[in-house]
Amino acid sequence: MGRNLGLLLGFCSLIVGVAVADWNILNQRIVENKNGMRITLKNYCEAWRINVELHNIRQFEVVPEECTEYIGKYMSSTQYRVDSEKALEECTIYLSNTFELTGDDKDAWIFDVDDTILSTVPYFKKHTHGGEKFNKTSYEEWVREGNAPALDHTMNLFNYIKGKGIKIFLVSSRGEHLRRATTDNLFKVGCTGWSGLLLRSNEDNGKTVQQYKAEQRKYLMSKGYRVWGMVGAQWTSLLGLPEAMRSFKLPNALYYIP
Ligand SMILES: *[C@@H]1O[C@H](CO)[C@@H](O)[C@H](O)[C@H]1NC(C)=O
Repeated sequence: MGRNLGLLLGFCSLIVGVAVADWNILNQRIVENKNGMRITLKNYCEAWRINVELHNIRQFEVVPEECTEYIGKYMSSTQYRVDSEKALEECTIYLSNTFELTGDDKDAWIFDVDDTILSTVPYFKKHTHGGEKFNKTSYEEWVREGNAPALDHTMNLFNYIKGKGIKIFLVSSRGEHLRRATTDNLFKVGCTGWSGLLLRSNEDNGKTVQQYKAEQRKYLMSKGYRVWGMVGAQWTSLLGLPEAMRSFKLPNALYYIP
């Protein structure tokens, strides 16, 4: 046992060693900010990232060129995973403090799909980590391949919520024409047992994501569902009335969907 642990730790420190070397490159690049303060590129880009998460920076079309490398690294880092797990742990705490199953089958939870259940990081790896303007055509080609990996941390919460007897609805701004590809991809990664996958139909085309997603919540609530909470990776997925009882935001600074 002791020996196995030793090997495991040795292996882990090797990985950490490589990751730290990566961050160090960003740490060594010194830039001057607007106030003439000398900071590292990592400081600069982390400030950009956190302000995206705080929803102070909105409507950005591309990740600033000098930060694409940083955002790419963050999205495949241990920190990204730990940040996501922390957000999802709060869902579990919230549910264990407040939730009681009513038994009328009307308790519900909403998940986004992209960068919530399925990761788009492999797509953005090939597209400069958000540094180029979003290309719907090539993004949809990638979606049709149906090979997006699951975000394990969200799948753990998904299964926990499912186990509580709460109905799960997936609400995505992917178009109805991507239903088959999306369903196949979800099944492939073991995401099963949800009660509905709500996608954008033609009549939703003129709407902003915020408007469309709020309307989907309204629809579910009109069917009598109590939406205990929702998890998404875009502010525009979570905001707008009616809101879920609690909204949880996962980190994602690769793109902004208006
Ligand atoms: C978007 O992607 C498609 C398919 O890969 C490509 O043919 C097209 O040139 C791209 N558009 C732009 C503006 O880059």
